[in-house]
Amino acid sequence: MNRTWFLVFSFLVAIVLFFIIFAFYSCTGTTCFGVVGKPEYVNAFIKGQLVKHSFTSHDLQRERTLNLEGKDVIVYLHMQKTGGATFGRHLVHNLDVDPPCKCMKGVKKCVCLTKNNQVWLFSRHSVGWVCGLHADWTELKSCVDPWFQRIDKGGRKDRRYHYITMLRDPVKRFFSEWQHVNRGATWAGARLHCNGRDATLEEVPFCFHGEDWEGVTFSEFVNCKSNLAFNRMTRMLGNLSRVNCYNTTGLDEDLRSKTMVESAKENLLDFAFFGILEEQSKSQFLFEHTLGIRFINALEQRENTHVAKLKMTKEMVNLVIRTNQQDIELYQFAKDLFYQRVANMEKRLGYSVQEYFHLYRDHQGGLNSREEESDLEDDSGMGHGGGGDEKKLPHYPGESGASQSNHSQ
Ligand SMILES: *[C@@H]1O[C@H](CO)[C@@H](O)[C@H](O)[C@H]1NC(C)=O
Ligand SMILES: *[C@@H]1O[C@H](CO)[C@@H](O)[C@H](O)[C@H]1NC(C)=O
Repeated sequence: MNRTWFLVFSFLVAIVLFFIIFAFYSCTGTTCFGVVGKPEYVNAFIKGQLVKHSFTSHDLQRERTLNLEGKDVIVYLHMQKTGGATFGRHLVHNLDVDPPCKCMKGVKKCVCLTKNNQVWLFSRHSVGWVCGLHADWTELKSCVDPWFQRIDKGGRKDRRYHYITMLRDPVKRFFSEWQHVNRGATWAGARLHCNGRDATLEEVPFCFHGEDWEGVTFSEFVNCKSNLAFNRMTRMLGNLSRVNCYNTTGLDEDLRSKTMVESAKENLLDFAFFGILEEQSKSQFLFEHTLGIRFINALEQRENTHVAKLKMTKEMVNLVIRTNQQDIELYQFAKDLFYQRVANMEKRLGYSVQEYFHLYRDHQGGLNSREEESDLEDDSGMGHGGGGDEKKLPHYPGESGASQSNHSQ
């Protein structure tokens, strides 16, 4: 009798082991039993839940005291359609720094210098698209320091760069990008620079012929394989050198996508700060306590974006989810990290985000940023079919004109 049970038991154990080993082998890469992507992230995303991670206290506690008169520089990585232009404008118009940026009415770019005439903010609204239109992590990492070395000649010997960025719900972001392109924007001027050269047209063909893609339908938009809107946040935050840049021959698709997601997560962990578009107050709370710089007026949560008014069918949403799984994993990771950082900060400070705004932070009265900007304006500078702001770059000492190249040869 005992023996029979033993045999049955062993048999069950063998079956379980077999499945564990089978799962282990078939789940390398991002494919698992034929399901692309990490299903737990996508499932949680669909249910509006988060996958819990265990972060170290080093990951959660990132306070630093910036000395902008010294070596510290803020580098803003601005991803398309993440509410980044609004945030970028807050950085130049609304930060409590001394001296404040000098801005002129009607001029998009401000002059942000320290008392010693050093650039302390690297962003489109301060220095312009110095590293190319909407430069990504890979481009910034190879361009920011050489640029500063030129303009700091005779001044600062070295700098400490503090990267910051904003993330957004990837489904909303994708729809927003489609709408933006539908209205005639292209970002064709992006260089897509990596490993010392720009991506070629063979590597990343344009999705449209002629000037732009104005009027593009949703199905055309999602059917263009080389559309950079897919998983844009992952591509822009990951180290593209790790996957041979835009050259996709010779690297397994799953491995490529897995490597990029992992790299984007690693880099994001290394950022001094990132915010979440959907969480303006918490983002502000975290920014102010992490970097020790306050905004003058509180950031506003905007709900009436173009996307909010868009009619999205279930099929459309499902298609966007299916084609943006890297971004969904990245965003789910980022959001969990973000909320844990906020909770950790609240616990250490002894007050909540709400209490911070209602009791502790100086009450400013009204909010002044009433500018009703549309999603179109949100990324205006991008130009339509052209190089956007690149042409309006100022010339800093030691700099011989801005790079104008497109990824178009
Ligand atoms: C990006 O990845 C490449 C290849 O793994 C590595 O050599 C390089 O140092 C990385 N870049 C940065 C800025 O870390
Ligand atoms: C792309 O990568 C493959 C394999 O690594 C290589 O043979 C090919 O020359 C590369 N193409 C370009 C344009 O660099």
